[in-house]
Amino acid sequence: MEKGQLLYEGKAKRLYSTSEEGILWLEYKDSATAFNGEKKATIEGKGQLNNLITSLLFEKLKEQGIDSHFVKRLSDHEQLVRHVEIIPIEVVVRNVAAGTLAKRIGLEEGLPLKQTIVEWYYKDDDLGDPLINEDHIAILSLASPEELVTLRQKALEINTFLTSFFNEIGVDLIDFKLEFGRGSDGAILLADEISPDTCRLWDSKTKEKLDKDVFRRDLGSLTDAYKTVFTRLGGVSS
Ligand code: C5P
Repeated sequence: MEKGQLLYEGKAKRLYSTSEEGILWLEYKDSATAFNGEKKATIEGKGQLNNLITSLLFEKLKEQGIDSHFVKRLSDHEQLVRHVEIIPIEVVVRNVAAGTLAKRIGLEEGLPLKQTIVEWYYKDDDLGDPLINEDHIAILSLASPEELVTLRQKALEINTFLTSFFNEIGVDLIDFKLEFGRGSDGAILLADEISPDTCRLWDSKTKEKLDKDVFRRDLGSLTDAYKTVFTRLGGVSS
């Protein structure tokens, strides 16, 4: 399969066409951004670790019957994915208070939530990805009410699996962000990535942060944290 032209370049990834209809070539970059692009850095090895971790998690999810755009990993920093029309909603799932939730409604970081929270954010960099509700989604025509039911259901299913999967390797899944897309037949598929860039992952015993908060809050080596996650997931890091 041939890599074609660059279709899109985001903060952390580049997307290329391929010689095969409906299949795209995804390249993970070594760039790190936070606070809607206000904080930037190049961190060697980050793209590779996110590609390896996402590939591993998407494969595990597939075994659970949860389909994604992921087709196969091509190299350390590249994978093939199915073309989907991305739904411009970031679906955030939270098990423990942290980040913007802790700040917004005044909860102490680390407080286990009485119930899992699912939130919708409008995926729009110019607006800073604002929190939105079902009525906003309807007036912006981002997704149908039926699709929202599916998104919520899939997000909770993914949360149930990932929470216990991470638990087995001594990691608490605090919260995470998912993106979904519509396939050519309209079916909703998990897309984008699931990595320490998009999840909060804390060591179960020490509560050490093993995710992008290490970069956001200058807590040490980001690649060391991501390598810990990858190694515990059974990956062999170079
Ligand atoms: O910042 P906040 O607390 O709202 O983030 C919730 C979760 O969603 C975190 O795991 C964070 O890494 C992830 N997230 C993301 N991309 C965004 C916003 C949040 O991956 N644009």
